[in-house]
Amino acid sequence: MGYKIAIDGPAGAGKSTIAKRIAKQLGFIYVDTGAMYRAMALYLLNKKIDPKDSDAVSLNCKDADITIRYENSEQVVYLNGENVNELIRTEQVGNTASVTSANPDVRKKLVQLQQKLAADADVVMDGRDIGTCVLPDAEVKVFLTASSRVRAERRYNELISKGEKCDIDVIEKDIIERDHQDMTREISPLVAADDAVLVDSSYMTIEEVADTIIEMTKKGK
Ligand code: DC
Repeated sequence: MGYKIAIDGPAGAGKSTIAKRIAKQLGFIYVDTGAMYRAMALYLLNKKIDPKDSDAVSLNCKDADITIRYENSEQVVYLNGENVNELIRTEQVGNTASVTSANPDVRKKLVQLQQKLAADADVVMDGRDIGTCVLPDAEVKVFLTASSRVRAERRYNELISKGEKCDIDVIEKDIIERDHQDMTREISPLVAADDAVLVDSSYMTIEEVADTIIEMTKKGK
């Protein structure tokens, strides 16, 4: 069956940084589910599908071939045979993914892929609905949060270090909007599982958060 660690939470809470670190320390596979929703959003953007047109999204998402490979222990997302790891990391793709991930056909397709990847493996998986929907039997479930300002500062520093121009207030506004969209959608909204442990990373270092979660695995919870 494998040992499963589910990390859910809003955009910018540090899920992927923490999940990657824990996976490396424990020798587990890291599965970044947001990357799959981003790849789907990129596909729909390239096809000029209106993200809000649910029928068109349902119809077209079936043709997107999204596959995951592990190269040098890194998750690489392929969209119809093309490595899209870099292309999916833009704000436009992230914001589109927040809209198109509300579509039931998109979710069905990607949840199946995620469950297949986790079957029989020791995994750390991060996303929005991992503890509630994708891996409801996960041994450890964490809901990782941080204040919207702290999350905006993290995103700002990340973009600035890549040489991109940005405005922190716009980033914070986008984050609040994205939280709202993710938390109020009908299917699998962003919500902590009843048995998840809440961790607020606003004033914690990466090491502190990772150590807190690794401690939970020792207790089996
Ligand atoms: O974590 P991220 O920013 O890469 O995710 C992009 C979008 O994908 C996010 O706004 C909501 C959606 N998502 C989701 O609905 N379910 C998941 N398990 C992961 C991401």
